[in-house]
Amino acid sequence: MSHQQVIVLDFGGQYNQLIARRVRECGVYCEVKPCKTPIEEIKKANPVGIIFTGGPNSVYDENSPKVSREIFELGIPVLGICYGAQLMAQTLGGTVSTATTREYGKTETDYDTASILFDGLSKKDISWMSHGDYISKLPDGFRVCASSASCPVAAMENPEKKLYAMQFHPEVNHTANGVKMLHNFLYKACGCVGDWTMGDYAKTAIEEIRAKVGSGKVLLALSGGVDSSVAAALLSKAVGRNLTCIFVDHGFMRKNEGDEVEAAFKDWDVNFVRVNAKERFMSKLRGVSDPETKRKTIGEEFIRVFEEEAKKIGKVDFLVQGTIYPDIIESGTGDAAVIKSHHNVGGLPDYVDFKEIIEPLRLLFKDEVRKLGIELGLDEKLVWRQPFPGPGLAIRIIGEITDEKLSILQDADYIFREEIAKAGLDKQIHQYFAVLTNMRSVGVMGDGRTYDYTLALRGVTTTDFMTADFAKIPYEVLEKISARIVNEVKSINRIVYDITTKPPATIEWE
Ligand code: XMP
Repeated sequence: MSHQQVIVLDFGGQYNQLIARRVRECGVYCEVKPCKTPIEEIKKANPVGIIFTGGPNSVYDENSPKVSREIFELGIPVLGICYGAQLMAQTLGGTVSTATTREYGKTETDYDTASILFDGLSKKDISWMSHGDYISKLPDGFRVCASSASCPVAAMENPEKKLYAMQFHPEVNHTANGVKMLHNFLYKACGCVGDWTMGDYAKTAIEEIRAKVGSGKVLLALSGGVDSSVAAALLSKAVGRNLTCIFVDHGFMRKNEGDEVEAAFKDWDVNFVRVNAKERFMSKLRGVSDPETKRKTIGEEFIRVFEEEAKKIGKVDFLVQGTIYPDIIESGTGDAAVIKSHHNVGGLPDYVDFKEIIEPLRLLFKDEVRKLGIELGLDEKLVWRQPFPGPGLAIRIIGEITDEKLSILQDADYIFREEIAKAGLDKQIHQYFAVLTNMRSVGVMGDGRTYDYTLALRGVTTTDFMTADFAKIPYEVLEKISARIVNEVKSINRIVYDITTKPPATIEWE
């Protein structure tokens, strides 16, 4: 693609992805690369700017990451942030010292608005600091352009060489005008033109897909999730009826969801195949209550059904996968323990004969995938869908799955979601759902004794789903949900709210 590109060199800072997102929010395409990326590779990418992230090290640590001095001599503007700033100072002959106390948090900072970094911004404002070391002597040719009480070089620059550095973090919200500072760097130092918009992206992606696919046949496994739906929409615009989407409905979707997925693609130019395979999945799961066996059984059956359908289409040239950018950069955790075997269509290529994989979303973050979905005209409900596990409600029914339990859970979950949306909390709580426990307890309804199921409600807030907090749903909302569910759904007489964080709990119960 012919976008201008900025490279973010990752020195291990916790905000490195955030920097990339901010750059993209400024309308500039950027990619995160490991700090060890060879300089030849960087030159080949022909970036208009380079940003060094922060990192956990001190430049004096024995194994702290370094850069070649050559990177500052390419004529490409460089912005160093935190560790990146110190590394720039040290590499170019300045001095970095260790402070007696760490400077952390919101810090009043003075800016020199003659610097293009701070052009048009306030002379005094709050920046977010988080560092132990500091730049105590500037490299030759540099001047100070921001300072705070305990950090004499909060920012430095050598405009002639287009080298800039900030000790604080412009990418976090706590730094007032931080995004504007990045914008200044991008537009005023790097000469960015802002050619990264979703409209442009969609147009170029469609052209590229057409050029690649020609009149070949394309196959896509549609789960109804955001990524596969947006990929389907994009491919449909690019190749129309040469695309076949197979939606394997295992019967464990939420209430009405299978029909909603089908309806969402009714008017699109694609071959849409919905396979109603509930009976097949149910029969495989008869007597199964172990969570991992459930997951594996569903995963295997899913592949089998998909494969059978794919064979009906005949020879396929391309298989589409909805891989997104974080999937790529987060891979490589090969030694991690298996907590849950995730059902993932990534396993399909072994089973279907095809020439090549197309991953049209591989450059995008999740929020960009959503923007693209809207740009392509996908239903908002689909675009804003919360994450849903591949095995669906099967792993939200503890113990053996029966038709009765499935319908109890679908009804209860529907009410929960409806009330959360009514309370206006649906975008604040990142994932919320009901779980049907395998426990029964005694209750009283009218004048009679009941002995029914306990339903658990789970709501979490999270940024990455790797860690999560339980959502602080107001009591009044919980009260209303509880009253509606016990009144409207047969066989539930008790409702509990899950107040565990992840870790130690996981988000799903199985
Ligand atoms: P856990 O339960 O591991 O879930 O804390 C983290 C996130 O992953 C989702 N999840 C899945 N997503 N296939 C998926 O595509 C799966 O098999 C699967 N299992 C869990 C879960 O809903 C949460 O968002």
